[in-house]
Amino acid sequence: MTTSMSSSASSDPGSAVTHTGVAPNGVSTNGSAQNGSAPNGAAVANGSLLKVPAWRLADAFDRAAPSYDAMVALSPGYHEQLRRSAQALMSRAALPVDRPMRVADLGCGSGASTAALLDAARSAGAGTASGANDPVVTGVDASAGMLAEAARKSWPDSVSFVETDALSWLRAQPAASLDAVLAAYLLRNVTERDAIVAELARVLVPGGAVALQDYSVAGRPLAGALWAGVCHAVIIPLAVINRSDVPLHRYLYRSVRDFDSVEVIHDRLTRAGLADPQHVRHSGWQRSMVHTLTAVAP
Ligand SMILES: C[S@@+](CC[C@H](N)C(=O)[O-])C[C@H]1O[C@@H](n2cnc3c(N)ncnc32)[C@H](O)[C@@H]1O
Repeated sequence: MTTSMSSSASSDPGSAVTHTGVAPNGVSTNGSAQNGSAPNGAAVANGSLLKVPAWRLADAFDRAAPSYDAMVALSPGYHEQLRRSAQALMSRAALPVDRPMRVADLGCGSGASTAALLDAARSAGAGTASGANDPVVTGVDASAGMLAEAARKSWPDSVSFVETDALSWLRAQPAASLDAVLAAYLLRNVTERDAIVAELARVLVPGGAVALQDYSVAGRPLAGALWAGVCHAVIIPLAVINRSDVPLHRYLYRSVRDFDSVEVIHDRLTRAGLADPQHVRHSGWQRSMVHTLTAVAP
């Protein structure tokens, strides 16, 4: 795993994580947009109010980080859905012939989606399990705590992690510089969704692909009722019993309830100029709620 640091980075030698413009507590230090949803679910539309809610969400993920892997292990199908999204992404992305594949995992968290992305890229023929010509994978996340969990895992040298907000990171990338981008459970947490998707369209090489995975229940009353039931009967009560971050779990409920419909995400992709959006269907009891959309750069 690469262990580089930016000039503005805090200097903890041996850290696996590069910090670019976001302090360890997740506060943006470069004034750029951060995720704009408060733990209470209040969406922040624009302007100077963005910083405090952004800090709170990253802070909540920092606190949740040590138990995050155990928590998602309780969610049947979580890893399988990530694998399926990563495989769908790779099935759409053109493999480069003369260089390693360059891929990114936005909102990579503790690295579960990064591992799925690396495996799928290797399976698609980008690199080998022995590491030869391995895909170059960058995991990006605003939470230092989540990245610390990711960094504890074993990664090949071609994998690195960057602590910053996804939109800032995308804006810093050259045009046509990435072959594939996965964003699992990121888009719901940002207010500047069109800006993120526009940046994705800009940074992908022609033939590159994107996969956006998230919970979405808007426009699907049965899925909405199921989501409300699961949250109020299981997820939030369990958070109370386990003394984990109840506001973060309430935020999870509200952010999914209020998130884009699949159709709106589809429209965001096409409006940004990405071609042929395809809806990947998942299996299991969450199939009406977890959705992935893939699209390609023309
Ligand atoms: C629910 S976790 C998902 C993690 C991982 N993708 C997975 O599937 O296991 C969402 C992650 O997105 C990160 N996140 C939220 N908003 C972000 C933003 N604007 N920029 C970068 N990361 C963000 C959070 O810190 C958190 O680690």
